[in-house]
Amino acid sequence: MIGQLAVFGLAAAAGVAAAGAGGWRAAVGSTADYDRWAAGLRAWRAPPAEVAELVRLAALAPNGHNTQPWRFRVGDGRIEILPDLARRTPVVDPDDHHLWTSLGAAAETLAVAGVALGRPGEVEAEGEGIAYVHGAGAARPHPLAAAIGRRQTTRADYDCRPLAAEDAAALAAAAALPGVRIVLVTEPAAMGRLRDLVVAGNDVQMGDAAFMAELAAWIRFNPRTAMATGDGLYAGASGNPSIPTWLGRSILPRIMTPASEAARFARQMQTSAGCAVVFAEEAGPRGWIQVGRACQRFALAATTRDIRMSFVNQPVEVAALRPELAALAGEPGQRPDLLIRFGFGPLLPFSPRRPVADVLA
Ligand SMILES: Cc1cc2nc3c(=O)[nH]c(=O)nc-3n(C[C@H](O)[C@H](O)[C@H](O)COP(=O)(O)O)c2cc1C
Repeated sequence: MIGQLAVFGLAAAAGVAAAGAGGWRAAVGSTADYDRWAAGLRAWRAPPAEVAELVRLAALAPNGHNTQPWRFRVGDGRIEILPDLARRTPVVDPDDHHLWTSLGAAAETLAVAGVALGRPGEVEAEGEGIAYVHGAGAARPHPLAAAIGRRQTTRADYDCRPLAAEDAAALAAAAALPGVRIVLVTEPAAMGRLRDLVVAGNDVQMGDAAFMAELAAWIRFNPRTAMATGDGLYAGASGNPSIPTWLGRSILPRIMTPASEAARFARQMQTSAGCAVVFAEEAGPRGWIQVGRACQRFALAATTRDIRMSFVNQPVEVAALRPELAALAGEPGQRPDLLIRFGFGPLLPFSPRRPVADVLA
């Protein structure tokens, strides 16, 4: 970490010298402006609400690399969620597993927000996508609704505090959906083995030039770029300082090394209270949609309790590590779909989103 910060510091000094302080500020933008913008994206607006309001909330769902690989088609009494294949991440997600999981998370957000905003309905998997089929009714409180705008993927070190048994049970219960199995791991020796798997997966991915190129293409190094694109992995949301894009691209191999990332993930795992390993009964889009729905329910339930969560999917994405992860979770022979760590820790800046108009089909 110190090494990483030192490289950042040197790069920042070199960058300011090259661009001048004014040029630097113009290149990166303002974190205060960004935080205001990100808060505005997430504000809860009281009902009655237009259907576009449901779409805005659904698009706050977690999604791989924050590519937001969805389009929403609003019809009479239904909202279809369609895959946006231009926003696939073919290297990390060659079979579109994460894409369908992301769409499932958005669909579940519609179902939660629909109750709270007077459009209660059902999620139905369809051939080309998902349909949220809803009626019009009185807005009713939903225990997870207020968390939609407060949820985030928190890629920070946590504080090692364990979860109370009733909190763990509540998260598992919130995520219990047909076709999905969630295994919670909290025992220290098993967590140690999970940490080693995450680090092993990280080593494989960092040695893969195509994986690193795809990841780099989705990094937004500063508030200005994150607000302009409305997508991608904003550096601040991973606890990193803002730097101009040209500088970020050139120093990325020095600030993100296999050793620095291995140490970072080991620390993140060691400070977490536990992990959830999620399995779908059905391998394919229908099963992965269910996984996404369960994942979002887990994340929203965690948020209501001020419990942080973050994905550590390296042993899911590196196919050779899946058997060991499944065995560790007591499901030998199954394909694991998600690995999520949870615990207590700070909030980080929120991630960007595109305007609603850009995600309407
Ligand atoms: C299927 C899926 C897989 C993901 N995998 C990872 C992962 O391995 N590592 C990670 O840091 N974030 C992962 N994420 C989190 C996304 O990067 C995150 O949801 C996105 O950047 C938006 O940020 P937010 O969740 O804070 O709104 C994943 C999300 C989904 C839905």
